[in-house]
Amino acid sequence: MRIDVLSLFPDFIRQAAQVGVVGRAQERGLLKVEAWNPRDFATDNYRRVDDRPFGGGPGMVMLAEPLIACLNAARLASTKPARVICLSPQGVPLTQAKARVLAAMPRLILVCGRYEGLDERFLEREVDEELSIGDYVLSGGELAAAVLIDAVGRLQDGALNDAESAAQDSFEDGLLDCPHYTRSEAWGTEGVPPVLLSGDHAKIARWRRQQSLGRTWLRRPDLLEGKVLDRKDAELLAEFQAEWRAGPGKPENL
Ligand code: ADE
Repeated sequence: MRIDVLSLFPDFIRQAAQVGVVGRAQERGLLKVEAWNPRDFATDNYRRVDDRPFGGGPGMVMLAEPLIACLNAARLASTKPARVICLSPQGVPLTQAKARVLAAMPRLILVCGRYEGLDERFLEREVDEELSIGDYVLSGGELAAAVLIDAVGRLQDGALNDAESAAQDSFEDGLLDCPHYTRSEAWGTEGVPPVLLSGDHAKIARWRRQQSLGRTWLRRPDLLEGKVLDRKDAELLAEFQAEWRAGPGKPENL
């Protein structure tokens, strides 16, 4: 897979794409990330990439021309068809399901906005979709692009080693992950749920599933809305809820 990124901070993108699983995916030839700077395509003497918005008001808007020239240059760097995505708080939310869809595409071109945003006509004419990584405002799309590259890069076939398998990740089945514990000199096995030390694999799997369901119910009830639980999951969750309600420190509303 190839990902081209248009950004006024191309070095940030290059660096981010060199670390961890994404860096390893690039070394393995599974992913190629290239960064392009729209400023290199500005035509005036000052290499300007922004201008005041029509209608006045505070802030600046990214000029269309350097972006279009930069996008065209990036497009020509490969014959693979590309989906063009702009990172912005106005986008639809990036989810694990979306990451899966994008990970199967041969090529993405990501556009990172700065200032107050991009000229709307550039978005209408050149961009296939806008994506947001959450309901908060960043100073630019670069961090969001790095998030997207990570989420998509780790899903490339062969990017993860067996032990890191993506199938068990949070959200793969629409639930949060269960808690994990490992050896600690300082704490020994103190605070580790006894079932995890029992060696009974069926019981451990049951406990993990119940924790996933329970945590999702406590922390992200929105993920459970509209989700149909099978009888086994419904029982596990009901048991978790009963224990939680009987336990100390239960929140008022649960
Ligand atoms: N750019 C600024 N804020 C953003 C966000 N929340 N998601 C994606 N891109 C952004």
